[in-house]
Amino acid sequence: MARPDNWLSMGRWLRLAALFGAAAVLAVPSFEAAAGADLPKLERGKGERCVEDTATMRRHHMDFLKHQRDDTLRRGIRTTKHSLKGCVECHASEKTGSVASTKDDFCMACHTYAAVKVDCWACHATKPPAKPAQAALPAGPAASPMMSAPSAGAAK
Ligand code: HEC
Ligand code: HEC
Ligand code: HEC
Repeated sequence: MARPDNWLSMGRWLRLAALFGAAAVLAVPSFEAAAGADLPKLERGKGERCVEDTATMRRHHMDFLKHQRDDTLRRGIRTTKHSLKGCVECHASEKTGSVASTKDDFCMACHTYAAVKVDCWACHATKPPAKPAQAALPAGPAASPMMSAPSAGAAK
């Protein structure tokens, strides 16, 4: 067996070095290209718009997330504008309910394409917290029996 840990972190550093190097030298064109036509189709987020305009988000979401994280963890400031939970709530896939469970899910689509590996999901949920009202009730047998026969006898 190869040594996956080494291989992974080497590969990651090389790719990131390449990406950031390219980004620094070329400003944005490579990224614009990456966000362009040959990307897998991204599911549109919920609501009217993102927390910043779309072009800004494409280019700078990683900075927002890092600043947000640093503010939260190091300085104890909590704002919600660039919260990772917010990203997940609006960008979870209709199909999988997640931002990162398949390579087509929102956070994975570009990252797979750009060979960026993001290791946030070991600690952070890829799915919005269960909301009894909607997505959280899967159409499966897991739903509570209390909830499942609303029409029949329950007249009162
Ligand atoms: C080792 C566990 C761990 C990993 C890995 C991790 N985080 Fe966090 N993160 C935390 C904890 C703990 C908090 C503070 C508790 C909270 O706010 O939920 C936090 C808080 C945050 C916040 C502020 C709260 C919020 O929901 O916005 C952001 C943003 C964030 N992390 C982003 C990231 C990103 C982006 C990555 C991946 C690049 C990442 N984190 C990886 C543990 C982790
Ligand atoms: C209130 C819901 C909402 C929240 C919260 C939100 N987004 Fe968005 N996001 C959207 C919508 C809607 C769009 C599409 C906007 C458009 O097409 O003009 C979008 C677009 C994007 C895009 C560009 C996608 C593309 O088509 O190229 C990225 C990247 C993005 N969001 C990342 C994030 C990240 C990262 C977070 C968390 C910091 C986040 N979003 C939080 C709703 C949201
Ligand atoms: C429009 C394409 C696109 C989408 C959608 C997208 N990303 Fe990214 N992301 C990238 C690219 C490309 C990079 C590599 C950094 C660069 O090129 O500047 C990146 C880098 C990152 C990084 C920094 C990685 C590191 O190790 O430094 C984080 C964190 C991140 N993205 C989080 C997210 C999250 C969370 C989502 C989903 C809410 C998301 N991204 C959705 C394209 C995207």
